[in-house]
Amino acid sequence: MPYQKIDAQHLQNLTLLCGVTNVHTNDEELIRCASDHTEDLHYRAEVVVTPETVQQISEVMQYCYQNNIPVTPRGAGTGLSGGALPIAGGVLLDMRRFSKILHIDKQNFQVTTEPGVITQVLQETLLAEGLFYPPDPASKGSCFIGGNVAENSGGPRAVKYGVVKDYVLNLEVVLPNGEVMWTGANVLKNATGYNLTQLIVGSEGTLAIITKIVLRLIPAVQHNMLLLVPFRSAVQACEAVNAIFLAGYTPSALEFMERDAIEWSMKYVQSSAIDLPANVQAHLLIEVDGNNTDQLYRDAEAISDIVQRYDVGDVLFADSHEQKQILWTLRRKVGEAVKSNSIYKEEDTVVPRAMLPQLLTIIKQLGAEYGFHSVCYGHAGDGNLHVNIVKAGMSDDDWNNRLPEGIRRLFAEVVAMGGTISGEHGIGLVQKRYLDIAFGNTAMQLMRQIKQVFDPRGILNPGKIFPEK
Ligand code: LAC
Ligand code: ZN
Repeated sequence: MPYQKIDAQHLQNLTLLCGVTNVHTNDEELIRCASDHTEDLHYRAEVVVTPETVQQISEVMQYCYQNNIPVTPRGAGTGLSGGALPIAGGVLLDMRRFSKILHIDKQNFQVTTEPGVITQVLQETLLAEGLFYPPDPASKGSCFIGGNVAENSGGPRAVKYGVVKDYVLNLEVVLPNGEVMWTGANVLKNATGYNLTQLIVGSEGTLAIITKIVLRLIPAVQHNMLLLVPFRSAVQACEAVNAIFLAGYTPSALEFMERDAIEWSMKYVQSSAIDLPANVQAHLLIEVDGNNTDQLYRDAEAISDIVQRYDVGDVLFADSHEQKQILWTLRRKVGEAVKSNSIYKEEDTVVPRAMLPQLLTIIKQLGAEYGFHSVCYGHAGDGNLHVNIVKAGMSDDDWNNRLPEGIRRLFAEVVAMGGTISGEHGIGLVQKRYLDIAFGNTAMQLMRQIKQVFDPRGILNPGKIFPEK
């Protein structure tokens, strides 16, 4: 059944449900919600709705369900796979008014929060109470925790502390038909029925609207140390990653940055904090954390000794808060720096960690074959490499028609290595045409059936995850 267009009657009814200050049809709102951080894509919704209560979301969903109006949920719009783009028009459900941390349960190391809280604000609020919520996507200063749950985000600390899914205990959600429910219980162990909580985590806003989130927390960690290691060979930098783990160390971050990544990021943030001799191809940024500083120094020294087995330059030990800050800023800004530099596509490859050197080698080989330049960086400790393919000198024809074949080849290689096609950015809009590389027919069919059970009319975030049939 075709979707209904938003006419004056629908606008009036949505206004009755949410109030006039929460229904927006002005250009400013429609343009703001037409894009996220994915490439340079723009899709306009017909109306932006900013509900304030779960009841309002429930009523909006019920209304849209009955009238066959597509609804696309949106957090802060920092996604990198186009998950929040309203490609079918309809209602854009903006969650920005759900910005309260509802309850910090110190006794049980839990927090209940609304989804529109900025991740860093949540982290800092918890830290002031001695509590730690580790997942720290690069966009933590602007992304929403709800979007993090919807995408199952990761970030640098995932290597030691795990990703978002490892912290979500329970969710309150609104189903496409408007029903409100909790998915689980606020407990650390749960063997009761199917795990609906984890089904919603990473479902990219296609199954339900997340309205409350209960997260598990851990005690705050007191100290960390940061090392920056320059490598003359990028493949050797990848090899060193596994050597560190094999020696028995688990850093709290182990990030890889190719030369271009650092160079472009320094230009972007106007910093010259890192010395870049001509023969340096890549860096590892390695953080260790813990509560015992003597132990941390020993770990940092040991890691420094391990990397000396490779062709490295001087290891930088960042000891001041400022020095750590600037190194982390440079790392976090790589994505934005690349985006500001050229039209680009971001691939989010992930392989078993020991395969990282092979992954980097294949990326460069395919780049030579298909004529693309790539800037690779990311969470090497997780085997998760962001491959930014920059358009630079490529013709439009090669970019639009030949490159997808190269990306397909890359993903096929990734899957053959035991990896998969997204580690933390999701499938959303821009990777759906490649989903068949990661899953066979049976798994694809099962996932389509799950979507059908939750959303039989296909109104919630249509056109995402699944390739067109
Ligand atoms: C990062 C984002 C792109 O790691 O995931 O910078
Ligand atoms: Zn990342």
